[in-house]
Amino acid sequence: MEILLFLITIVVLLSTIVWIIFSLYTVIIGDLLGAPYVSSSRDAVKQMIAVARLQQGEMVMDLGSGDGKILLEAAKLGCHAVGLEINPFLVWYSRRRAKKLGLQKLVKVYCRNFNKYSLKEADVVFIYLWPKTNKILRNKLESELKNGARVISNAFPIEGWIPAENPLRQSANVGKIFLYYKT
Ligand SMILES: C[S@@+](CC[C@H](N)C(=O)[O-])C[C@H]1O[C@@H](n2cnc3c(N)ncnc32)[C@H](O)[C@@H]1O
Repeated sequence: MEILLFLITIVVLLSTIVWIIFSLYTVIIGDLLGAPYVSSSRDAVKQMIAVARLQQGEMVMDLGSGDGKILLEAAKLGCHAVGLEINPFLVWYSRRRAKKLGLQKLVKVYCRNFNKYSLKEADVVFIYLWPKTNKILRNKLESELKNGARVISNAFPIEGWIPAENPLRQSANVGKIFLYYKT
């Protein structure tokens, strides 16, 4: 009986520690480095993918890839998809989902700060970050992306850039989606 109580206490303690670390990454660390973890809605992902007009074989990057849902949709279309995500729990979860769907050869998720990762290989970049983060990221996008690369931003514009089309908003569930071409 005592051993059982001891084991239950250990399990509860470990779960609490994991939950605290997860929350710390999800809310505080994510927020400080770019944006907290809020997954794009299913409708928004659909629209972002449609707006990107992805071609098989293209290199797609999601800066702050969250649970990896954009990466998986891109890979289903035959794209190479790279996710940069600071939250190790979300990195683990996205890799697991990619493996489950048999997409692990096309989907790579790195537990890295996207500010320290080169974007020069990207044909398409997805972002869903705070406006202030987009503003800081702009220099990096301008200096590293190849000409013609597309940048699709969920919800927030990139200050100083002019979207290629009017920001899309086709359903009540979806905020604005901004498409830019690197020139
Ligand atoms: C609003 S969520 C977007 C998730 C996903 N892109 C989507 O649209 O569903 C932003 C994500 O960026 C991650 N993040 C924030 N700053 C980051 C940084 N500097 N490097 C890597 N990931 C970052 C957060 O942990 C969070 O998961």
